[in-house]
Amino acid sequence: MLRALLLESLHPVATSILRAEGVEVITRTGALDDDELAEALQGVHLLGIRSKTQVTERVLDRAPDLLAVGAYCIGTNQIDLGAAAHRGVAAFNAPFSNTRSVVEIALAEIIALTRRLTERDKALHAGVWDKSAEGAHEVRGRTLGIVGYGNIGTQLSVLAEALGMSVVFYDSAEKLSLGNARRLHTLDELLEVADVVTLHVDGRGGNAGMFGAQQFARMKEGAIFLNLSRGFVVDYAALRDHVLSGHVAGAAVDVFPDEPKRRGDSFESDLRGLPNVILTPHIGGSTEEAQEAIGQFVSGKLLQYVGHGSTTLSVNLPNLALDERTGSHRLVHLHRNTPGVLAGINKVLAEHEVNIEAQLLATRGDLGYVVTDVGSDLTPEVCATLGTMPQTIRLRVLS
Ligand code: NAI
Repeated sequence: MLRALLLESLHPVATSILRAEGVEVITRTGALDDDELAEALQGVHLLGIRSKTQVTERVLDRAPDLLAVGAYCIGTNQIDLGAAAHRGVAAFNAPFSNTRSVVEIALAEIIALTRRLTERDKALHAGVWDKSAEGAHEVRGRTLGIVGYGNIGTQLSVLAEALGMSVVFYDSAEKLSLGNARRLHTLDELLEVADVVTLHVDGRGGNAGMFGAQQFARMKEGAIFLNLSRGFVVDYAALRDHVLSGHVAGAAVDVFPDEPKRRGDSFESDLRGLPNVILTPHIGGSTEEAQEAIGQFVSGKLLQYVGHGSTTLSVNLPNLALDERTGSHRLVHLHRNTPGVLAGINKVLAEHEVNIEAQLLATRGDLGYVVTDVGSDLTPEVCATLGTMPQTIRLRVLS
């Protein structure tokens, strides 16, 4: 029977999906340190974590039963992915389960800032009836400039068009335009026409400081700026200058270069106290719906891996999408990627008169992953021979 340990208060659906497939699930609310985790992992095949649990090489060395780790979040820095792969432990995350939540907060902010709701709200809370249309606009007919047309950028494009916005985007990669969105070939072209500029680029190192004084200066007078991507992408001192000068009419910022670790911690930023600036504590993707979607997605990935050997979207193993097995057994073989492994496996099978019904191979760097469906029974000798090949990292037989 498979056993899973789920830490850090995951959404209940993460547990129910695993239990429905007969997995015994142990849950804990907090994270565990190295020693506690290693101890708790004895006899555990699946580990579910969020960002606080560190899955180090030391932990992995002491968790011989572990088959897979699910990061029920986006980031996977907390897992030593290489060490896990080389011990035959697959890792999965939820790369796009919270993207809709980011899109919705972006839309809310675009309307709120274009309408200067922040100021009206603040005034009324302070007891001042500031009824005025000055500086307040509809978003209909205005141009939204999306920088980074990926999972989030594309969804925002579709919903913004439904609101009557005209969408332009700039992406450094070749991207298909959705709806009537217009692709522009440089960031500068986008900055010249956009009434709202919103950043949805990924966190690659080269994006550090990509949006600074020069880019703010190129924005249209009175345009609005949003960053819900990564804090290090934007020079916030430059944003502050452009908000104070009035050149940028409003901004929403959800991500910061140095974010406090814990809820309730104090927060320092150049952007605090600026007019028509919405600051949020990296909650773009934080909704109950996103948590549920993440729970479903990652538990599903873990089950597909242990049940079928499928590694689709694994962040550390070669990716193979697999259906139900076709034969009576499925041999799942993770190995060091050197010439001749596939031939070696097939030779062993042929020598033991085991017929191959289907076979797929994928590689990723120095790892190879071959999945073989066989029609006949496997003797312990076949399994032992494959399991002790010098290149074998892990062999599993699914039946
Ligand atoms: P994605 O990887 O699907 O899309 C990123 C796009 O940006 C890609 O199309 C890429 O080609 C493009 N890109 C990268 N560098 C660029 C550059 N310098 N100029 C133009 N285009 C560039 O990523 P996804 O899922 O859409 O996420 C976007 C960002 O949102 C990421 O940085 C992610 O970390 C962040 N995010 C923030 C959340 C929050 O809570 N605020 C929640 C989820 C994601």
